[in-house]
Amino acid sequence: ISLENYNTFGINANAKQYLNINHIDELKKALKLYHSKKLLVLGGGSNLLITKDIDALVLHINLKGIRIKSETETHVIIEAQAGENWHNFVQWCLERNYGGIENLSLIPGNIGTAPMQNIGAYGVEIKDVFESCEAIKIDNQSIRIFSNNDCQFGYRESVFKQSLKEQYIITSVCLKLTKHNHNLKTGYGAIKTELEILQIENPTIQDVSKAVIAIRESKLPNPKDIGNSGSFFKNPIISKPQFLNLQKDFPKIPHYVVSESEIKIPAGWLIETAGFKGKRFGDYGVHNKQALVLVNYGNAAGEDIFKLAQLIQKTVLRLFKINIETEVNII
Ligand code: EPU
Repeated sequence: ISLENYNTFGINANAKQYLNINHIDELKKALKLYHSKKLLVLGGGSNLLITKDIDALVLHINLKGIRIKSETETHVIIEAQAGENWHNFVQWCLERNYGGIENLSLIPGNIGTAPMQNIGAYGVEIKDVFESCEAIKIDNQSIRIFSNNDCQFGYRESVFKQSLKEQYIITSVCLKLTKHNHNLKTGYGAIKTELEILQIENPTIQDVSKAVIAIRESKLPNPKDIGNSGSFFKNPIISKPQFLNLQKDFPKIPHYVVSESEIKIPAGWLIETAGFKGKRFGDYGVHNKQALVLVNYGNAAGEDIFKLAQLIQKTVLRLFKINIETEVNII
């Protein structure tokens, strides 16, 4: 089966075996039969680059359902099944005036994979509202509940990418959201500007979502039109002495202070300064409005995009002595 429609890069690769999972019992059964096989667990397909045909069993997690699990005067805990589309879920919450994830509007992908890499944008990460998730252990099909602490969230990191890598499949996620007195995060420069343009002085969570959508639409290509997986690289974190050295050569280098000893540099700036922004090589290239995003304009091979990523990494390393890691999973 072709996976072209199941990855937002739109890479046309084939999988030998594919199972669409609509129910938790189907998942248990499949794991019981096949857990010793090579598996590729697929959610929204928005964070991977497939570079060759898949010699593994693809488990496509399509578990659906959203419900209120519990609520108090001030908060609500919503449980969503792993196969729910993330942005549809955000809208479901906004329609009911539940706050906390409005800054995460329009992020591609599904709920189940959101905690894996602790999705984040415009000053909010899923860890800020994450209550727990339920996951099934691949080798013995036992069910485990992970608390926020258990997940060991970091910048685009969690225990599911580290010590428990490829051991669990997340089946549902619970988020704790506000019912009123929402804690708006509008400090991010672009959000402030957007709200000014929209002439909104006392924004609601719906207004913040609108602003975020407008910003994302202006910078990030819609995977429906141009294949991509969002940020291809993580923003690197470097030591203060290394930063001060770089600043001598590049006085305008943008940066955010992470701690007393660490500075985060936007990889997009490094890639743009290295001359790659908007570069096109046939059917693939670097997006012209956001250098952090690699794109497939048509029928690019995953391998070609991977080679471009390696060229970018090498060039950035040579020019700035900074190693930029991929954010996207390379398969
Ligand atoms: N920049 C450039 N050239 C570019 C792009 C960026 O110079 O082509 C510099 C500019 O100085 C700009 C700064 O980078 O001010 C930051 O850019 P932006 O606000 O677009 O954010 P980012 O660091 O490029 C990160 C996340 C995005 C998230 C935005 C907003 C990572 C790897 N990426 O990007 O997440 O939407 O912040 O919070 O952390 C994703 O993970 O797929 C993703 C899109």
